[in-house]
Amino acid sequence: KEPFTVGSKSFTAVAINTAAKAGEWIKSKLGDFSSLTIKTSPHDLVTEVDKGSEMMIRNLIMTHFPTHSILGEEGVEPGAAASIKALQEASDAEYLWIVDPVDGTTNFIHGFPFFSVSIALAHKGEIIVGVVYDPNRDELFVAEKGKGAYVHGRRTMVSGEERLLDSLVATGFPTDRGPNIAGNMRGLEAVVPRVRNVRSGGSAALHLAYVAAGRLSGYWELGLNAWDIAAGMLLVKESGGHVTDTKGNPYHLEVRNIVATNGRIHDELAQLLQESDAAGN
Ligand code: IPD
Ligand code: CA
Ligand code: CA
Ligand code: CA
Repeated sequence: KEPFTVGSKSFTAVAINTAAKAGEWIKSKLGDFSSLTIKTSPHDLVTEVDKGSEMMIRNLIMTHFPTHSILGEEGVEPGAAASIKALQEASDAEYLWIVDPVDGTTNFIHGFPFFSVSIALAHKGEIIVGVVYDPNRDELFVAEKGKGAYVHGRRTMVSGEERLLDSLVATGFPTDRGPNIAGNMRGLEAVVPRVRNVRSGGSAALHLAYVAAGRLSGYWELGLNAWDIAAGMLLVKESGGHVTDTKGNPYHLEVRNIVATNGRIHDELAQLLQESDAAGN
């Protein structure tokens, strides 16, 4: 049996309340932030709202579960190497909360209303709770391992498309401008002619939530971090979908190149990415 509670405290309830509080606050700061800092490049930015949201989330989780560990994007040094190391170091924790305080910072900065808060809880390396909150639409997506996924009490289910040609898929453009972006371009070249169309909304967590809810048939991206993927991955799986790395291997916390689909188009999409040398390393 999955340990969803400690005493009378439900992990899921804390994740939901925390994501909702942080999301409301972020929304209230739209167009009202003062500090814009470059992390690794002009494509990779952070504001005081990212940091404030992470602080709020950390404080709320620590109040309820002081013995748990927390891995949050803004608590880690910028760049892929530091992120990989931080995840490895955190992986020993029995309970690890994995937090993206604002997923879609670029959108937030530009007032493009597509960003989210992503909170996942891993127990011994397995994600058991995932919550993604979109404050702009007030949509709260929640999944518990083995218990399904919901948006405001309604069960989410992946879409029914059987072929890529009938599919609406999404991707994202990595913030590093190294090999991942080149791989992404090859992927687009291969995928665009083979699908109904491609979208890129700018929030990995929301793309995954949309695959879970059947609004997208699939999504792929290279060079992500655990905090972008962990919660949304569980949403997709608990909605009947499939999540692997771009080479078709099973998902685990260290996967950075992902494909998430309704399951039916999974092999076709993953294979296309591999054949076009767009699956990354
Ligand atoms: C980014 C978003 C974006 C994706 C980038 C991520 P952030 O996260 O998820 O959609 O394309 O790769 O880094 O930095 O806004 O939390
Ligand atoms: Ca970021
Ligand atoms: Ca992110
Ligand atoms: Ca972020």
